[in-house]
Amino acid sequence: MENAFIIKGGNKLKGSIKLSGAKNAALKIIIAALMFKNKVTIKNVPRIKDVEELIHLLTTLGAEVDFHDRHTLEIDGKGLKSNKVDLLHASKIRVSFMLFAPLLHKFSTCYVPNPGGCRIGARPIDRIIDGMKSLGIRIEYDSDTGFYYAQVKSKIQGYYKYPKVTHTGTELLIMLSVLGDDKVILDNTALEPEIDDLIRFLNLAGARIKQLGKKITILPVKELKQKDAFEINSDRNEAVTYASIATASKGEIMLSPIQPEILKTFTAKMKQIGAEVENIGKSLIRFGYAGPLKASSVQTSPHPGFMTDWQPCWAILMTQAKGESVIHERVFENRFSYVTELRKLGADIDFVKIPVKNPAEYFFFNFSPDKKYHQAIRIRGPQDLHGGVLNVADLRAGATLATAALIADGESVINGASIIERGYENFVEKVRSLGGEIKKL
Ligand code: EPU
Repeated sequence: MENAFIIKGGNKLKGSIKLSGAKNAALKIIIAALMFKNKVTIKNVPRIKDVEELIHLLTTLGAEVDFHDRHTLEIDGKGLKSNKVDLLHASKIRVSFMLFAPLLHKFSTCYVPNPGGCRIGARPIDRIIDGMKSLGIRIEYDSDTGFYYAQVKSKIQGYYKYPKVTHTGTELLIMLSVLGDDKVILDNTALEPEIDDLIRFLNLAGARIKQLGKKITILPVKELKQKDAFEINSDRNEAVTYASIATASKGEIMLSPIQPEILKTFTAKMKQIGAEVENIGKSLIRFGYAGPLKASSVQTSPHPGFMTDWQPCWAILMTQAKGESVIHERVFENRFSYVTELRKLGADIDFVKIPVKNPAEYFFFNFSPDKKYHQAIRIRGPQDLHGGVLNVADLRAGATLATAALIADGESVINGASIIERGYENFVEKVRSLGGEIKKL
């Protein structure tokens, strides 16, 4: 047996965690750095498998990307020599499709593989492709090869309103527009904090991006030049994972550095269920168990709503809370892979059908009336969990199963540990520092 975690549950997890840089900011900022005229330095880059895969992919294209120290990455895109993204490497890292931006700027044409569906849903990029076309990019898909061919027709300029918000879709069109030819207006954009980080990174290098609510205006500039090293903010998903681990185990945790603002929806829900939440200064939050938890339902939605990445953690908290709660997933069409696994540990969870008046509007994925969806679960708690053998299907589900194992009675085996390591730096070390019994095989 390899690529597994062995976890002995039942300890109260207590302590402090220094959060790592945000995965979903780092990946896009690293790609955007390829568009800079000079060498770019990024600090607080998380040492996770997704970052490793991306670096590997970029070096196959000719970029120089090296860690200067443990978390400081230097990126030099000058040497980009290929306009074709390698299919095998791209298949390992979904954000590879964001390479449209640096490759089109450098070569005016490029070949990028379709990222395709994944374990959390079909994940088409139709809105992104339509947006690229609206901005003056010719783009065709060859279903025989699985590659998109893109070409800048004449000028990058124009207006695009996303029919539904998309996080990476907003980021990619921003990246395509900063070095464009004329003004670009993007409407109905996503509001995720990682997008703010990308905008800050680009504006500090001379870009002219203005964000007003869900409208973003980009005036093109001739070049992007970094003056000072850029630091990635902490990972809000990592924060929520550890807050849930500590609270579900009846322990407590100090998390830093983290801006309380970006966790506001989560912290409000934590208070509602009876957990202790204390903002200490500007960048430290304490979460703690303060007596029996009360059940509370959530529905996921893009920022500033209750994030889809947080609902698997919420499910664990709800197995420990008194009463019945419902989790309604609106963002991805397949984000309950953990349910069958949690049932193995004794959790009382069922799929339920919640009537929705206008599903095409209510859900953020492309809803089809002919498809069968499992978008909601009901959890009854509190329920003692026991150990078991669990299989990880996707990143957040993986962290959730590890959390379940940490509060369960006895020993558990979590197969697919490397999926967790795609997005969590030093997971084993951090859990151990809180008093959790975990080892990797
Ligand atoms: N969608 C389409 N067509 C598009 C674009 C999106 O149908 O052209 C659908 C998606 O399939 C999804 C919904 O619209 O059902 C929202 O997708 P969005 O584009 O907003 O998500 P994403 O950009 O693919 C990012 C994060 C996710 C995070 C979501 C929501 C990265 C690399 N990924 O995904 O993170 O859950 O935003 O904030 O930034 C994770 O870290 O585990 C993760 C999945």
